[in-house]
Parts: sequence; C-alpha cells; structure tokens
Amino acid sequence: MNIAIVYYSMYGHIRAMAQAAAEAANQVAGVRAEIYRVPETLPDEVLAKMGALDAAKAQAAVPLATPEVLAAADAVLFGTPTRFGNMTGQMRQFLDSTGGLWAKGALIGKPAGVFTSSGTQHGGQESTILTFIPTLMHHGMVVVGLPYSFQGQMGVDEIVGGSPYGASTIAGGDGSRMPSQRDLDGVRFQARHLAEIAKKLAA
Ligand SMILES: Cc1cc2nc3c(=O)[nH]c(=O)nc-3n(C[C@H](O)[C@H](O)[C@H](O)COP(=O)(O)O)c2cc1C
Repeated sequence: MNIAIVYYSMYGHIRAMAQAAAEAANQVAGVRAEIYRVPETLPDEVLAKMGALDAAKAQAAVPLATPEVLAAADAVLFGTPTRFGNMTGQMRQFLDSTGGLWAKGALIGKPAGVFTSSGTQHGGQESTILTFIPTLMHHGMVVVGLPYSFQGQMGVDEIVGGSPYGASTIAGGDGSRMPSQRDLDGVRFQARHLAEIAKKLAA
C-alpha cells in the first residue's frame, strides 16, 4: 500500500506536519508512505523578501511531486498552508497540472485527505480544506477527514488545530508557533486513518 504525502510549505509548518504524517502512516502494517513537495512557483528574490529562502533551501532534497506520483499512489494526503482562506497558488498550480490524470480517470476511487496551516486561529483552516475538496471529487477521489474519534480536537484547554475536515496547525501571525504535539497527533491520526481506509478499499 503506497501513500503519497504531497505538500507545499513556505516556512516549515506544513513540512513538519507532513513528516509526522509519514512516520505515522509508515507504522501501519503493509503501508509505505513517501513525502513529495509540489514545485515552487516563486523566484528566489521573492522568497527572500518573504523571509522564506532558508526554509525553501532546507526542503531542496525532498523529491518533487508529479502527476505520476499521484497515479502510482493508493492514497494521497495533501498538505497546504492557507492563502486568503484557500490553498496556496503552488498547490493549485500542481493540481492544475493533473488534467491528464482526470482525462484517464486515473485517481477515481483513491482515498485522499487534506491538512492545513494558517497564521491565525480563524483565518481559513476549514475553508482551505473545504475548497480543496471539489478538486478531489472532480478526480473521483474518496475524501477522508479527521473523525471525532481523534479526541484531540475536542478540548478548549489549549490552542489547537484540527476539524472533522482535516488536521491543521496554527502558525501564529509571525509564524513563530510550530505545530504542537496535539496538532501533530491530529495529522498522525489522519494519516493512519487514510492508510487503514486505503487498505480496506484495496481488499
Ligand atoms: C500571501 C499570504 C496569505 C495568507 N493568508 C492567510 C489567511 O488567509 N489566513 C491565515 O490565517 N493565514 C494566512 N497566511 C499565513 C500562512 O497561512 C502561514 O504563513 C502558513 O500557514 C505557514 O505554513 P508554512 O510554514 O507551512 O508555509 C497567509 C500568508 C501569506 C504569505
């Protein structure tokens, strides 16, 4: 069972979530999870102005996502930061390169989930995931969220990401908050849940 974790991360929050997801999915018997980053679309001088050049360089060794990666996967977990309440342009551009897969129906029936990160608590975590889902459904994918059996999304004792739509983290307005243990547990849960559903569908 081959799970692709396909992400974009400008400052490292989604990347940390992707790594936790991969570790968790790899603990499921018979599952092999690999991480891929979608291609950057911004030039280095723009990334430098956004304070994102070091984080971009730190990810250089992560293999690039391609449509073929999606076609070969049994399930896909997408990770994208919020941009004005939607996915990033980098992720959108990658998804818009998958028309050939759509034409062949190559992703029909494959389970897929989405996790996200936003700067502020109510800055678009749910809308980012919810507006991602139509693309998955146009591809015929089976949407997998973060069920309430992940109890970590229930409490109000600390700032925490996560909703039934998918795992998430809150980076803070200045990006200084890295994913908490509970945020990471959320994406681990979603990754394992996706892997188990992929196994059931394959059976
Ligand atoms: C152009 C732009 C738009 C953004 N829009 C939002 C937004 O609508 N809501 C929000 O809470 N954060 C917003 N952010 C903050 C990002 O979501 C935040 O930097 C990101 O979640 C950090 O994840 P990363 O380290 O993986 O890139 C925006 C950031 C940029 C650069």
